[in-house]
Amino acid sequence: MPSNYPQVLFQNRKPDRITTLEEYRQSGGYRALADVCKHWSPKDVQQEIMNANLLGRGGAAFPTGMKLMAVAEDAPYPRYIVCNADEMEPGTFKDRVLIHADPHMIIEGLILAGFAARAEEGIIFIRPEYENAARILEREIKIAREAGYLGQNILGNGYSLEIVVHRSAGRYICGEVTAQMNALMGKRPNPKVPPPYPTEKGLWGRPTVFQNVDTLACIPHVINNGAEWFKGLARTATGGGTKIFCVSGKVNRPGCYELPLGVPLREIIEEHAGGLPPGSEFKACLPGGASTRFLSKEFYEIEMDFESLRKVGHRLGTGAVMVFDHKTCLVAATLNLIEFFARESCGWCTPCREGLPYIRDLLRRIEEGEGREEFIPMLERMSKHLWSAYCAFAPGAVSPVEGLLTYFEDEVQEHIVQRKCPLK
Ligand SMILES: Cc1cc2nc3c(=O)[nH]c(=O)nc-3n(C[C@H](O)[C@H](O)[C@H](O)COP(=O)(O)O)c2cc1C
Ligand code: SF4
Repeated sequence: MPSNYPQVLFQNRKPDRITTLEEYRQSGGYRALADVCKHWSPKDVQQEIMNANLLGRGGAAFPTGMKLMAVAEDAPYPRYIVCNADEMEPGTFKDRVLIHADPHMIIEGLILAGFAARAEEGIIFIRPEYENAARILEREIKIAREAGYLGQNILGNGYSLEIVVHRSAGRYICGEVTAQMNALMGKRPNPKVPPPYPTEKGLWGRPTVFQNVDTLACIPHVINNGAEWFKGLARTATGGGTKIFCVSGKVNRPGCYELPLGVPLREIIEEHAGGLPPGSEFKACLPGGASTRFLSKEFYEIEMDFESLRKVGHRLGTGAVMVFDHKTCLVAATLNLIEFFARESCGWCTPCREGLPYIRDLLRRIEEGEGREEFIPMLERMSKHLWSAYCAFAPGAVSPVEGLLTYFEDEVQEHIVQRKCPLK
């Protein structure tokens, strides 16, 4: 039986419908906002979030409190707060599930983060495939506005915020915040590596804070229950909060599970996701979406939190666990991911634009039985080379290749020696 852990973000989740404003209120919703409007300063909110060890859930794990604090007190207005709901990372679907489960939790989180940064305009940047989620948000924003939680002079505090939903044109790179900034300003969405950071010069040259949906959803709970409580939800000293793990691939019960940060990988797979189907054995998983490295069986007991994975040279990323069994060819799986990344490269810099198709072609030839011994060092060299690309897209894109070569080089060799895929 799966262990019963506290459900914080999923406390109101229902199988068939969203949580209404009234239901959200009954579970303590908008209490944090009311409290903040009466008794807290923006600095208090920033500090509480900082103390809570809340790390960004969008993939980079940057401390949320620190980002909010980076908006200088005397920075110019208007300031912007952006909710990143782009979620194009293959295997990741937690933001969509959260929006469909409890949209007001995200709206309240966005208002609180906006208050901490003294932002006047809020934007939810959402991928076009999430049209239903976009409509839910638009409807619930209107309801929140009618209830006095948005608009001018929120709950009599003097603070004002409006939120709009912006549909992306649909490219993976638009999830990266500097590319997203260009997309929002109607420009070609190339990344623009900081400095200046968006908190200093973001949208239209004004301070802008970008936070992931899941990160924002944590904020009302941090304010309501305090930083110590939030930290205590994690099973590791360096973690803070629960984490929504989206599990897919060779498991009996794929889905989103809210579990303490630091829960062992084995427990996620065997207890919560129902283990592998009969006749399947665990071979590897990607721990945090397509742009992380494969974890082999030797990591089966690892504590799934940001710090534990970082210490062993891995990343928790988005917490999207994709499970592969012993009958799955990891060369083919990696090829599939590289095909995606090669297509999604924005094309701005040469190592990424040319390097990913090169890696794709090598992997394709290996998978089709045309591989040669020298392809392995060529793959290694080219993967290293991608670390010199302009933005973080490229190192993420080659992560599965690096994992493949580190833990499963034998499998690549077998393809080359047998001149075919040994698993087909
Ligand atoms: C190529 C690329 C794609 C990204 N896609 C997303 C995304 O879809 N959603 C997201 O929240 N963050 C994404 N990120 C991370 C963002 O750049 C940023 O770190 C995050 O939105 C900040 O919010 P957080 O601190 O709450 O995680 C992406 C990063 C890269 C490099
Ligand atoms: S690394 Fe790739 S996505 Fe990033 S700027 Fe270069 S071409 Fe564009």
